[in-house]
Amino acid sequence: MEPYYATTPIYYVNDRPHIGHCFTSVLADAAARFARLVRGGPGDVFFLTGTDEHADKVVTSAASHGMTPLQWADRNAAEFQSAFAFMNVSNDDFIRTTQPRHTAKVHDYIRRLQTHGDVFLGDYTGWWDESQEEYLTETVAKDSPHGPYTSPVTGRPLVKRTEKNYFFRLSAYQDRLAEHLAKNPGFILPESRRNEVLGRLRDGLADIPVSRAVTADPASQWGIRMPDDPGHRIYVWIDALFNYLSAVDTPDRRRFWPPAVHLMAKDILWFHAVIWPCLLMALGEPLPRTLFVHSYWVRDGKKMSKSLGNFVDLDVLKAYADRYSLDALRWYLLTQGPLANTDADFSHAKFVEVYNADLANGIGNSTSRVANMIDKYFNGVVPQPPGTIEQLALDDQGLPHDRFNGPALCGEALGGVLSNLDRLDLASALADALSLVRRVDLYINETTPFKLAKNLDTDPTVRPRLAAILYNCAETLRVASVLLSPAMPGKMASLWRTWNCAPTPGATLADAAAFGGPCRLAPGSPMTKGEPLFMRADPAEPEPRATA
Ligand code: MSP
Repeated sequence: MEPYYATTPIYYVNDRPHIGHCFTSVLADAAARFARLVRGGPGDVFFLTGTDEHADKVVTSAASHGMTPLQWADRNAAEFQSAFAFMNVSNDDFIRTTQPRHTAKVHDYIRRLQTHGDVFLGDYTGWWDESQEEYLTETVAKDSPHGPYTSPVTGRPLVKRTEKNYFFRLSAYQDRLAEHLAKNPGFILPESRRNEVLGRLRDGLADIPVSRAVTADPASQWGIRMPDDPGHRIYVWIDALFNYLSAVDTPDRRRFWPPAVHLMAKDILWFHAVIWPCLLMALGEPLPRTLFVHSYWVRDGKKMSKSLGNFVDLDVLKAYADRYSLDALRWYLLTQGPLANTDADFSHAKFVEVYNADLANGIGNSTSRVANMIDKYFNGVVPQPPGTIEQLALDDQGLPHDRFNGPALCGEALGGVLSNLDRLDLASALADALSLVRRVDLYINETTPFKLAKNLDTDPTVRPRLAAILYNCAETLRVASVLLSPAMPGKMASLWRTWNCAPTPGATLADAAAFGGPCRLAPGSPMTKGEPLFMRADPAEPEPRATA
């Protein structure tokens, strides 16, 4: 199977980690965990996140904290690392753009581009957005939602700037990019984002500056110098984009290129959908398979911003994880997040509603109910259903007993999960997994094993029937837990410990998620009730508050 390489944006070290950063990284984490599960091991999966450290703002913030830019970057990069560790993000590497392994590669790439005439020296005049550190095209500058010639992001006035710059011959790649987009409808997901790019491409592509002059201003001295021209430094965005390649540009990691997916939000689509692929074409590198572009988390309908002070920051996330468990937080982010076109609101009421419906009353309740019955009626030993798995699924007429065909239901859920994963629709993939839990609940309500059990000692037909029902339930829940584990690795692992059913190391998803397959619950093996995975929450309870 093909190697799988997933990336997140590398985050500006100047920001403090918040829900937005954690969201993209958790999304990439779930995708990477699924990819490892599909392949039956971590060997062919590489998941990268990291920090973008050469922005001018780093110099000013560092100075205001009495630190060197690198000391400041070290401190904040460490915060991102610990934030992602807290979120149980399983990245294989964390790249920092100040690392020599990156800066050396950036020099190689720029040299390669110069050799082919794709990077050359010229004059540049344009609209500069100081708050975002980027030049904007005339159209974008004019049509800013905050008024003509203001930053579309912050609304601050743009300034006209001219400078001697190295340029990238972006214009030369316009046709090839258009062709690539036409031939690969899945290159930018969701489709609306692809249309956005196609629309903007019609304006045509001008060559873009890829360097900035180095002056007496200390801020201008921070960054990677142009090879053989210390009077210029490489524009932070170009430096940053190269991280995806530099991190795997070593003999042992080269096989991961090209990435299966670059994940990001809509704010940085243009760089990834236009500039980056053209740089790669100029370098002669294969293009990433997919750019997955999500929308924003907002708070109470408003964009989160420093001025409003309404960030859902790491302390808020930690307070939620403390109260409801980290996996409940991951579940909420993954299933209610802004995966498609619309922004998603982070709200406590919604959180509790989803927590109760999907987790406490869903997988949590269902697993407790089934484990309790097995404990009570079978002394905590996985019951042996009568006959074979095939006979458990279908009667003599080839019809499922009680309309419950475990292997078929689990097969369908797996199929749904896989096809949703293909489009990186993690919310739908997880909904498919959860549908197995709902199906088990319905089956219990229809077959009422707790009523049957009343005659367990008097009616000899009851024991095998009860064994069949409870095996169906427990084995289907086991499969559900496997499919849910990329979202909730901690909670599912604790279920596997109490149920004694961790998937065999090296098992592929096809095996681990097969009802009655090689990783099935073994009849006769002990399983304990354990603590309920999620306790119900009171919708009226106050929102968890950050204590710090
Ligand atoms: N350093 C650049 C990216 C360079 S990648 C080669 C950058 N950094 S950033 O710190 O601003 O991070 C932007 C990314 O953070 C978004 O694309 C998204 O992944 C995540 N989010 C930041 N705020 C967000 C929300 N409010 N909601 C969801 N995700 C957002 O841009």
